[in-house]
Amino acid sequence: MSSAGISSSADVVVIGGGLIGTSISWRLQQADINVVVVVGERSAAASGVAAGMLAPITETTFTEQRLLQLNLASLSRYADFVAELELASDLPTGLRRTPNLSVAYDADDAARLDTFADFLARAGHPGEQLTSTECRRHEPLLAPTIRSGLLVAGDWSCDNRLLWQALIEAAHRTGVQDRFGFVHRVTSANGRVTGVELADGQTINAGSVVVANGAWARQIGGLPDLPVRPVKGQIIRLDPGRMPAPSLTIRAYSRGSEIYLVPREGGREVVLGATVEELGFDHRVTAGAVYELLRDGRTVLPMITEYALAETSVGWRPGTPDNAPILGRCDLDGLVLATGHYRNGVLLTPVTADVISHLIITGELDSIATPFTLDRFALTGERTR
Ligand code: GLY
Repeated sequence: MSSAGISSSADVVVIGGGLIGTSISWRLQQADINVVVVVGERSAAASGVAAGMLAPITETTFTEQRLLQLNLASLSRYADFVAELELASDLPTGLRRTPNLSVAYDADDAARLDTFADFLARAGHPGEQLTSTECRRHEPLLAPTIRSGLLVAGDWSCDNRLLWQALIEAAHRTGVQDRFGFVHRVTSANGRVTGVELADGQTINAGSVVVANGAWARQIGGLPDLPVRPVKGQIIRLDPGRMPAPSLTIRAYSRGSEIYLVPREGGREVVLGATVEELGFDHRVTAGAVYELLRDGRTVLPMITEYALAETSVGWRPGTPDNAPILGRCDLDGLVLATGHYRNGVLLTPVTADVISHLIITGELDSIATPFTLDRFALTGERTR
């Protein structure tokens, strides 16, 4: 039987059931706002592919000062966010407050790490520079050939898959409803959102629609042009079994390449990532990427060759021209944007949930988010694909 013409309604429709969409839904429903989340393919979402680094300092770059402030603000909310979530869901999130250690392999890598350390110090976020021996005192599994390191005590990690399960559970317990399917277009009349039409023809009427479907934001009709593109990442999950696992999150420069290794509590998994590829929605796990990740991973942490290769996967980060998310309203009344989180979706979940739910409930955009509205691209002429 065709479902075309079937219509339902909600106060808010959230497009996307990943970390961002689910956390916004949870916050809204806590305020008694009825939410329907349109959930596409959960297995494709970046939320489940990511490694779970909560590392605003370790992962920043020279051109992301504004984004760094937002990332730090979100990390400062993480402990409370997770405590509330674990209580609401009765599920763990795998939050680990252990430091992140960046290491360098050869002389050029060490020079690069020194430059980065200098940049961080000037930005007011100094790390602790370590010799090779000091690095191995902090993380004994590191290769003796590591030249130097930079320890950042304030950067953490979580198990993003556990976090996501906890959010889904908490959202359901508060009354959020899932609708499985794909949004074909956002509907509107007289410059105001009226709801969404799904690919199967069903419609959901709503006064507000939140776009939170990450790298797929441009695939929905009826939206303004969003400068969001998929940035492919290939990533590996290793199972240490009975072998020793690292306790710190390791980020490494290795012969010019960059990798990270993110261990879970108790050593049950080590996530090794990730490629950054401008290949659109290419879904292939390639032999070359797996080879290079394992090669570089083994260079810094030789023990990984003893681990089981548990999973290789591909995800798509929602990239934007300035690597920062797109948050807030746009020209279409009732349409709210929460996409473009690029490399920081897990980290930015608490602040995004707070800012977007607050905007819908009060009509006010928190000043922390005002640099990240869509119109910044119109001003700089960067509103391109
Ligand atoms: N934040 C890690 C990554 O995007 O690979």
